[in-house]
Amino acid sequence: MADGSIAAPGVNGRAYSFIDHSFDVVVVGAGGAGLRATLGCSEAGLRTACISKVFPTRSHTVAAQGGIAASLGNMGPDDWRWHMYDTVKGSDWLGDQDAIEYLVREAPEAVYELEHYGLPFSRTEDGRIYQRPFGGMTTEFGKGIAQRTCAAADRTGHAMLHTLYGQSLRHASEFFIEYFAIDLIMEDGACRGVVALSMEDGTLHRFRAHKTILATGGYGRAYFSCTSAHTCTGDGGGMVLRAGLPLQDMEFVQFHPTGIFGAGVLITEGVRGEGGYLTNSEGERFMERYAPHAKDLASRDVVSRSMTVEIHEGRGVGPNKDHIHLHLEHLDPKIIHERLPGISESARIFSGVDVRREPIPVLPTVHYNMGGIPTNYHGEVVTKVDGDPDRIVPGLMAVGEAACVSVHGANRLGSNSLTDLVVFGRAAALRAAATIEKGEKHRDLPKDAGDYAVSRLDRFRNASGSTPTADLRLRMQKTMQEHCAVFRTGDLLQKGHARIYETWKASADIRVSDRSLIWNSDLIETLEYDNLIAQAVVTMDSALNRQESRGAHAREDFPDRDDKNWMKHTLSFIDGSAEKVVLDYRPVHTYTLTNDMQYIEPKARVY
Ligand code: FUM
Repeated sequence: MADGSIAAPGVNGRAYSFIDHSFDVVVVGAGGAGLRATLGCSEAGLRTACISKVFPTRSHTVAAQGGIAASLGNMGPDDWRWHMYDTVKGSDWLGDQDAIEYLVREAPEAVYELEHYGLPFSRTEDGRIYQRPFGGMTTEFGKGIAQRTCAAADRTGHAMLHTLYGQSLRHASEFFIEYFAIDLIMEDGACRGVVALSMEDGTLHRFRAHKTILATGGYGRAYFSCTSAHTCTGDGGGMVLRAGLPLQDMEFVQFHPTGIFGAGVLITEGVRGEGGYLTNSEGERFMERYAPHAKDLASRDVVSRSMTVEIHEGRGVGPNKDHIHLHLEHLDPKIIHERLPGISESARIFSGVDVRREPIPVLPTVHYNMGGIPTNYHGEVVTKVDGDPDRIVPGLMAVGEAACVSVHGANRLGSNSLTDLVVFGRAAALRAAATIEKGEKHRDLPKDAGDYAVSRLDRFRNASGSTPTADLRLRMQKTMQEHCAVFRTGDLLQKGHARIYETWKASADIRVSDRSLIWNSDLIETLEYDNLIAQAVVTMDSALNRQESRGAHAREDFPDRDDKNWMKHTLSFIDGSAEKVVLDYRPVHTYTLTNDMQYIEPKARVY
């Protein structure tokens, strides 16, 4: 329900007006984390709005295939402590161990909750939730292979979105669909809400809220080849940087080992969980050399690097020796039909391969951002002020891939992402319910609330430079792909830094051809590009700065992990006036949540 409509101050002689709304909570984004937070807030009796630029069931979570990790123990013994150990080791000791303990302890409950909400999980013969092995997931602190990933065939994210959207509607959450969030409304360091554009009719909306929860996903589209949807433009991260707040650990970008060669489309790790394997041009199962114990189910950073080395050393497949083969021809067709129907279709459509007869051509492809908006394990956004690294930003929360809790540290284990979405989506709702008084009144917004968002919108809407947004976006994507990929060196990153700054500065010359406000995809893509380029710049600079190799950040000039100097989170701010990145650090939480599990000491990561 809207409060009413008011005229916004004119910008460049053009008048804009706002439609005002007041809610207890506004969630931006309707993927798994956004929907779980929306549902939880509504269920707690908070007036909750969810703003999404796409229809909720088309959010990028729909593309999550393999499953959600939780130590249910349906297929053999399992224990949350083993899950915790794997996650800490997978993170290469950059994950915060209090948050990791929270994640893995809450995971089974979160999965049962989804089951009770109606998520159609695949089943074992005796009717329990089916679980498959995934990379880096072990039993007994690394000794055996765990079957921990709960799956709905290879369409788990799809099933999750439909389930959570249905439940949110049941609890009377209000959805603002095809609304593009432009900027946060900040007052004296606190968040008071968000400004959004209705793409359908061009109206501008000011959402006032006690809590604004950013669930806007990752920024995979800063790269040329990624498994991410075109909508993954890190809109929340862009808003946070413009509000003068930091992003954390942006140098850690995950490459999924099996994107379809040429198309980037995801082929789930579940394929290898079901017995699939990789080969090089000599037909060799090369992962046996790199990870003798876990082989094809080593963690993603390890598999992606091994594939890249094979290609660099001339053992790639295909006429140009530039990719790798993923085999499932040996699997029982019944298993493929029941558990991997989605990827069979993707392989046929995007590479013309019948998976029952031929291998799928694959290549490591950008898949996930470990970095994001720093939060505590309640989902509250934190920043560093006067040496305090955990200062809560009042009114602002973040969950899902947009956030950096940090449970994934330098490398996320496959299937821990869906767990993260629902565990922290729920945690944020619990925190909102605990900190908002029932019927709490809203203070008036400052007079200029929303002006910044409107002037930015107007600037891009009327941008009459000579470079179309699409040209700048391509330059950014190629730069990131060439200079900030699986293997990095100081020299490569330094050149990348120069190229990405050049592209960033060229934004002053941007051209938007369509001046309308209704379904103006040129304008929306420009606002998205502006979010992406800011995050591309901080990613490059954070990577250049970190002089060690850890998780997904592999520096050939600094091949070892350096716990003495670099076991710390990078914070990256953008100094808008100087158009430069300012870096700082936060300590890694080297303590657990309870005494049920002791701090896991760093050691070499062997798979
Ligand atoms: O391979 C996959 O199914 C992806 C899962 C994930 O990123 O968690």
